[in-house]
Amino acid sequence: MSNPENEVNKRHRYDACSSDNPGQQNEEYDLSLTRRELLIVGAATAATAAVSPSEAFSAGEPPTTPPPQTSPLTLNVNGIARRLEVDTRTTLLDALREHLRLTGTKKGCDHGQCGACTVIVDGRRINSCLTLAVMHQDAEVTTIEGLGTPDKLHPMQAAFVKHDGYQCGYCTPGQICSSVAALKEIEMGIPSHVTLDLVSPPQVTPDEIRERMSGNICRCGAYSNILAAITEVSGSEQS
Ligand code: FES
Ligand code: FES
Repeated sequence: MSNPENEVNKRHRYDACSSDNPGQQNEEYDLSLTRRELLIVGAATAATAAVSPSEAFSAGEPPTTPPPQTSPLTLNVNGIARRLEVDTRTTLLDALREHLRLTGTKKGCDHGQCGACTVIVDGRRINSCLTLAVMHQDAEVTTIEGLGTPDKLHPMQAAFVKHDGYQCGYCTPGQICSSVAALKEIEMGIPSHVTLDLVSPPQVTPDEIRERMSGNICRCGAYSNILAAITEVSGSEQS
């Protein structure tokens, strides 16, 4: 009767010479492992995988990722000085939402492509997801919460409500902050890509509004109503 262990110990032979090539010399490849050897290798592999990263570091490997650097920061948000201690990699958007709990400003794409995160910084609209908070020490930041309150809406907020300038509302804080600053830009005489006459002050036209608001995407497609709201606040006629 054959011993099972001996069976496992048997050498597996791979005959490289097939019956189709009878003249070729046989080659033997030793592919054997005893069952005991196989168990030892398996156990060693599992033990290696179970070592935690901290144990690996304490075993002599220094960590390669440096600890986060933090920095004190003061932002004047909606007229109130707010003091923070932030990781220097924190975006203005995350500082507002995660540190100051001002969640009216929305994170859409986090890549500067949708405009949902638009806030007004020192009078200019910016995508807060594309700028680091520490770049705005002592800046005046206006978010949707600072434009108006439910009891006292900003005229642009009231116009969006009146003209149904939203459906889901996710893009709306960015749309409103952006439109308030866009009308200011026209008032200051700043031309846009579609301004034909660069000598005279730009006019509030549908084309000007569409161009200046083109960085604010509305996935619900409320564009025509948004245009009506902005036109009403500007005091110009829609054509
Ligand atoms: S979240 Fe900033 S542009 Fe989309
Ligand atoms: S209202 Fe839904 S994305 Fe604009």
